[in-house]
Amino acid sequence: MADQSIPSDDQLPQKYTPNFTYFQGFWCRSELVPNITSFQNHFQALDADIVLASKPKTGTTWLKALAFSILNRHRFPLSNSPLASSNPHDLVPYFEMTLYNNGCHPDFADVSSPRLFATHLSYHALAESIKNSKARIVYVTRNPPDVIVSMWHFATSRPERAHWPIDECFEQFCRGEEGFGPFWDHVLGYWKQSTANPNKTLFLKYEEMKGNPVGQIKNMAEFMGWPFSEEEEKEGAIDEIAEFCSLSNLKNLEVNKSGSLKTMKRQTNSFFRKGEAGDYVNFLSPSAVERYSKIVDGKLSGSGFTF
Ligand code: A3P
Repeated sequence: MADQSIPSDDQLPQKYTPNFTYFQGFWCRSELVPNITSFQNHFQALDADIVLASKPKTGTTWLKALAFSILNRHRFPLSNSPLASSNPHDLVPYFEMTLYNNGCHPDFADVSSPRLFATHLSYHALAESIKNSKARIVYVTRNPPDVIVSMWHFATSRPERAHWPIDECFEQFCRGEEGFGPFWDHVLGYWKQSTANPNKTLFLKYEEMKGNPVGQIKNMAEFMGWPFSEEEEKEGAIDEIAEFCSLSNLKNLEVNKSGSLKTMKRQTNSFFRKGEAGDYVNFLSPSAVERYSKIVDGKLSGSGFTF
């Protein structure tokens, strides 16, 4: 089904069989389960907290860079931004993969307010203190076939998974068995929250951010409680953040060209690829896209949300 040549099974060193667990209604790597439980049991949200939520490959890295730049714009001029020397994932930690990793009990005493966190967890799996406080959630999602293709590239950038066939990745998504999936449940959880309480959850689409980054940054800043003043707008502060956080700029920073993250076992460059809307046409056949779209549309029907 993919347009490119895919190695046959006998060429594969070994088939990739992810060690996934179905936990609290979603799929995740088994090693994350204790981290998630620990986060759920111990994390105490503060009203000023901002939580960035997303499924992997929907624009998380971009969202982290934007939110960090918006919140810290009075502390650091962009010319001196920590993003110039640290990957966004090292500046905005995940609850389940960084902060509560391996039995850690993070000490937040020195973290300045507002605290900025990230998660790939479904809404229902968030710590209750996030739901019950005034902490705000910014969620981003993306056209599902582009997410599949982006995930496949991300996964196969690791040598041990370099030969993972895109067909297998695709089928995993069709079954809803991908990391933090099913995709549709993840989206629906945050969508419902954003419609029920728009002051609590801001729902963003990757494609709309690409189409109008300045408008979406302004929107995000207002939602997060850090709106741009008229003067800042006139001086071009929003445009500067849009430009600084653009894929081309972040991707070409030395820190994001090579080397590993400090907080996770990943190469910094693996989070930056093409960043295009509609790249799926180069990797998935029209019939595969139609099949997946039908599954997703069926699951979302009646929710009022469409991609
Ligand atoms: P592609 O693989 O389609 O290029 P995540 O950050 O959730 O892991 O998502 C990664 C996807 O977002 C990748 O998409 C990546 O190229 C894209 N991306 C990363 N940084 C970006 C940015 N600053 N602006 C737009 N897209 C970005």
